Amino acid sequence: MADNDSVRIGKGVGIGTPQKTEGYFLKGSAHLEWGMKDRLSRIFDPKSGRTVMLAFDHGYIMGPTSGLERMDLTIVPLIEYADCVMCTRGTLRQVIPPTCNKPISLRYSAGSTILTYLNDECLMDIREAVRLNASLLAVMVAVGDQKHEGDTIRNLTRTVDLGTRFGIPTLGVNAVGKELKRDARYLSLAARVAAENGAHVVKTYYCEEDFEMVTNACPVPIVIAGGKKLPEKDALEMAYRAIDQGASGVDMGRNIFQSDCPVGMMLAVREIVHNGAKPEQAYAVYEEHKNRK
Ligand code: R5P
Repeated sequence: MADNDSVRIGKGVGIGTPQKTEGYFLKGSAHLEWGMKDRLSRIFDPKSGRTVMLAFDHGYIMGPTSGLERMDLTIVPLIEYADCVMCTRGTLRQVIPPTCNKPISLRYSAGSTILTYLNDECLMDIREAVRLNASLLAVMVAVGDQKHEGDTIRNLTRTVDLGTRFGIPTLGVNAVGKELKRDARYLSLAARVAAENGAHVVKTYYCEEDFEMVTNACPVPIVIAGGKKLPEKDALEMAYRAIDQGASGVDMGRNIFQSDCPVGMMLAVREIVHNGAKPEQAYAVYEEHKNRK
């Protein structure tokens, strides 16, 4: 039983040594509070400062995308190779084992599909994100969309407000309409708009020319989407260039789960993102795994 007699004055360990105050490894995140930093540190490896996110939220606008028809068979086996998984709440509850112990980038905005006009979206209840233990709230931000630009920026703003209440960071996902050119000029504007409106991480596309301008002018980490399926060598080359030019990771979907060897691609992308492998080294990792099957 504790009582006053057992209270002893400490020995004064550390007197004269200033208390350690660690910095924070992620761009633009040093002034966030503990819960946000904890969640971001689960997504981005504090050693490399980078992340390999596996995205399979496509069904919410595209239906049963090729490779995602049976996610229990195609996606679940890949989860162990990802630093973070990005999906809808439907998929999370229906397919993803709660024992996987991975941070979740939850698709937080939802709305119209490829059959109509994209980006007419609403947000889910923040209590649902808390209940699902989301580590990141992913929201479409359609900069330049003639119909829904303002709505999606309002959604982003609202998400940042709600997430901040619970210490959950927001991922601004740049949705780029077919009519818009994915060049550095547009992508840097769109990424910057997301960051200025409070996104803690921005997901955008790689562009062949001047991608460094996009990452340089974005004050928070950028992760790149893979986009349509490319030959494996080209997808790895793209990932390498994006990282080399300042991206903090990838949030890839189709170039992983539509590959003829998705595990090989996960391992190869990890080599680039976390270990600084060159594209040809990463491709060798992919081939090696593919031949082992
Ligand atoms: C798009 O609606 C989703 O946010 C996807 O997660 C995103 O496009 C990444 O997937 P992919 O690498 O297939 O482009």
